[in-house]
This record gives sequence, C-alpha cells and structure tokens, in this order.
Amino acid sequence: MNTTTKSILELLRARTGDVSGEEMCASLGVSRAAVWKHVQTLRRLGYRIDSATHRGYRLSAEPNMPYPWRVAPLLGSNRFGREFRFEPQVESTNRIAADWAVAGVPEGACVVADEQTGGRGRLTRSWHSPAGLNLYLSVVLRPQALPMDVPQISLLGALAVGRAVESVMANPPEIQVKWPNDVLIGDRKLAGVLCEMKSELDRVHFVVVGIGVNVNVMPEDCPDDIQGRIGSLRLASGREHDRAALTAAVLTHLEAVYDQWRDDRLRSLLPELEHRSAMRNRRVEVSDGHRIVRGMAMGYAEEGALRVRLDGDDGETLVRCGDVHVLAW
Ligand code: BTN
Repeated sequence: MNTTTKSILELLRARTGDVSGEEMCASLGVSRAAVWKHVQTLRRLGYRIDSATHRGYRLSAEPNMPYPWRVAPLLGSNRFGREFRFEPQVESTNRIAADWAVAGVPEGACVVADEQTGGRGRLTRSWHSPAGLNLYLSVVLRPQALPMDVPQISLLGALAVGRAVESVMANPPEIQVKWPNDVLIGDRKLAGVLCEMKSELDRVHFVVVGIGVNVNVMPEDCPDDIQGRIGSLRLASGREHDRAALTAAVLTHLEAVYDQWRDDRLRSLLPELEHRSAMRNRRVEVSDGHRIVRGMAMGYAEEGALRVRLDGDDGETLVRCGDVHVLAW
C-alpha cells in the first residue's frame, strides 16, 4: 500500500461519519480522480467504503486480514516481524521464506499468507489452508546451533502459539502442546509447527519455522477426514478473532521464547512445557520411523526429547522425533 492510500485509510479511520472528497483532496494535495483511485485500491483490499455524491466517503468495515500495516503497530518484538511480507495466495509460506532466507534476509523476517494452495504439514502431510480464515506464518531463524538441536524449535513455536492465544482471548481455555509439534485446544488440533532447515552436518544455515493456526475456520469448512479433529479459536469461543492481532502476538512471543532458548536452550522453558503437555502421565504409542514404543509419557528431557517409561518394566527411553498417539488405556 503506498503512502497516499495509507493516508486516506487513516483519514477514514479517524472519522465515524463521512469524509468529503474536497477535504481529502485538500489534506493530501491530490485530485478527486486520484482519491477515487486510492479508494478503489482500498476496496480491493477488502475495506468496505460507502460513498455518496455530495457526502463523501465513509469506512463501514475493515477486513479481518493480517496486513503488515495492521500487524506492525501491535508488535511487541524487536526483530521478529519487523521485516514482513504479506501474500494473498502462495503455495506454502515455508517455501517463500526459505527462498527469502537464501537471498539473505535477517533473522525474524517473516512471510504471512491469506491462503496456501499447497500448505505443508509434517511427514509429507498437507495443511488445510483456506482463504480468509486462519494464520499461515513462516519465520526465518539463523540459530547458532547444531542440526540435532533444531527439532526443539518446533516446541518453541508451539509455546509461542499457546502464549499468544492466551494473550488475545478474553477467557482463554487451556492450550496444550502435544509433542513434538501440535497445539491442542481441548482435544482438537488448534495449530501445527513445521520446521525446515538448510544445514551442513555440523552447522545450521537457517531454519524456517512455519506455524499454522486455525483461527476462524469451522470443522464444516474442512475436508471430511479432519472434521472430527480440527479445533479453532472460533469453535472454542463462539466468536470471530482478529488475525492481525494474533499474528503480532505469535511473533512477539516467538521472539521471547527463542531468545530464552538461545540463552539456555530448553532449560528454563521446561516447566512451561511440562505444564502445557497434553501427554504427561498418559499412555502413548510413539513411532520414530525405526521403532514403535509403548509406555507412559513421563515428560521432557532437557534436549526436548520425550521420556517414555516403557510397558512391562523395561525402563525408560528417550524419543527424539516421531509421531505420538495417546492411547485410551
Ligand atoms: C503439522 O502439524 O504437521 C505442521 C503444520 C504446519 C503448517 C504451517 S502453515 C504455515 C507454514 N507453511 C506451510 O506450508 N506449512 C506451515
């Protein structure tokens, strides 16, 4: 959005009634035709602007969109989200962010999209990403870390979502983390985190942390196979939530947990992880690609691995990556 369009939006926002065409022309030093052109641009972006001859223009509704000019004033971060790219439609924000990282953007640069046509989940799954409803965010990180530490960053993303949701909701329900990357609201999936990286064996070049949050989507908007599992802020609260406010909150909290992690890895975050754990003292089945283990989830080890007390008195094992199912018995 250019500066004149932004000024017109500010003029309209500042007034509950009409702003006359002459007033806009005079205060911005542009012609009536130019005002009309900028108003049309705002309408295309989803702003509802009523106009009537002799009365002028009136802003009657703003779109629920995570536009950069809506997110920026709400950011409490120093670096994360300060470089912000918004796209109406992409295949995957993770892919755009990775290309952007290769081009050299600083840590904290992020890509947000209104819609993804090929949203990616873990383990080659897809991520349902309809337009107008949710948050699809990817942030570039440049950690001084070994590749084996990077899975911990998924937990950071999940914690950031938990904190962010609690900061924007009036009576937030409990937000739990299901290792390694799911965020649950009740027993439904609210958000997922997908970390992808470029590295050598002993050096990380960059990590893209991709976060998808189901904000205003309802189960009936989703494919049959996920309807029973999908949760959203709207489903939980019965009202629509502001995507820009949530975007700013996730970026703000992600920077805070990331800075904590840079200082002492997960050590000081373990109490919160344990508190938010959806699996503590539940029987689980974990498959890590090589083996399947069953037992009681005991909590986290310092490096973010899941501690499982194996069935049949077989001692405890650490699971570093994999897929978990909470068992009913
Ligand atoms: C999962 O639960 O399997 C992870 C889902 C991650 C989805 C987000 S949406 C933004 C970013 N772009 C993607 O293509 N995926 C992640």
